[in-house]
Amino acid sequence: MIVKEIKELRNIIKKQKLEGKKIGLVPTMGYLHEGHLSLIKNAKEENDFVITSIFVNPIQFGPNEDLEKYPRDIERDRKMALESGCDIIFNPEVAEMFPEPLKTSVQVEQLTEPLCGRSRPGHFKGVTTIVTKLFNIVAPDNAYFGQKDAQQAAVLIKMTEDLNFDIKIKVCPIVREKDGLAMSSRNVYLSTQEREDALALYKSLELAENLIENGERDVNVVISKIRNFIESHKLCEVDYVEILNFNNLEEIKEIKGNILIALAVKLGKTRLIDNKILEVN
Ligand code: PAF
Repeated sequence: MIVKEIKELRNIIKKQKLEGKKIGLVPTMGYLHEGHLSLIKNAKEENDFVITSIFVNPIQFGPNEDLEKYPRDIERDRKMALESGCDIIFNPEVAEMFPEPLKTSVQVEQLTEPLCGRSRPGHFKGVTTIVTKLFNIVAPDNAYFGQKDAQQAAVLIKMTEDLNFDIKIKVCPIVREKDGLAMSSRNVYLSTQEREDALALYKSLELAENLIENGERDVNVVISKIRNFIESHKLCEVDYVEILNFNNLEEIKEIKGNILIALAVKLGKTRLIDNKILEVN
C-alpha cells in the first residue's frame, strides 16, 4: 500500500503502536536495488511493521546535480518493496513535505566537513533535515541505512544521539553486483564502457586492503596507490580518496584502529562513491 499523506501515515502508525507493534523505517529515494531490499529485509526481521519512505529529497541536491533526472519508478519500487516485507510505502509529493519553504534546518557539524561534505556543500544539511522530518513523522523504533553512504550513516548516528531521538540507527553492509560494483540507483546512468571502468572503485579498495594486510601503514602511500590505480582507467576522474578514523571522521597519518577508506569518482556525468571499513591492529 502506498501512502502519500503525512496525516494518513500517522493514523496508521498510531494504530500499529497501540497494538504494541515495533516500527522499522527504511528511508530511501527510490529506484530500489538489492541494497535497499537488504535494508527492508533486515527491518522486517527486527520489527513488526516496516515503512519504506520513497522521496527524492530536493534539498539534498546541489544546483548542478541530478535532481531532475534522478531515476524514478514507483510501480517497480512498490512491487520490490512489498515482496521484501515492507508493509507501507510512504511516497509523499514535494508539496506534502515542504508546503512552505523551510525556515528550519538540522545540521551536524565537523563530521559533515570532509569527503562528500567538501564536494557537495549543503548536501548533509538536506539529508539531516529530511531524516529529522521522517523521524518525527514516523517515530520508528529502528531506522535502517546502508554502509555505502558511510559518512551519511556516521552523521545520522551523531544527529540521533545529539538530538535524543529514541531511535536505533542500524547500518547494513554494502551490497555489490557479482563483479564487485557497489549497488547504487545511479549505476543506471553508466554507459557500457563507464560500467567497465567503474569497477576500478571496488578493485582499488581491494588493492588498499591487500597493501594494509601486507603491513603498509602510511596513509599517503595507500591513498596515492588507490589514486594511481583509479586514474589508470581512462573514464575515471577522482573526486576524492581519503582514509579517516571512522569513529570521528578525522584525518590520520598512520593506518591504525577503525579506519574508513572512502572514494568518490566521476565517470562522465555520474559520480559514484564506495568505501571499506577496516579494523587494523
Ligand atoms: O540515502 C538516501 O537515499 C538519502 O540520503 C536519504 C537517507 C533517504 C535521505 O533523503
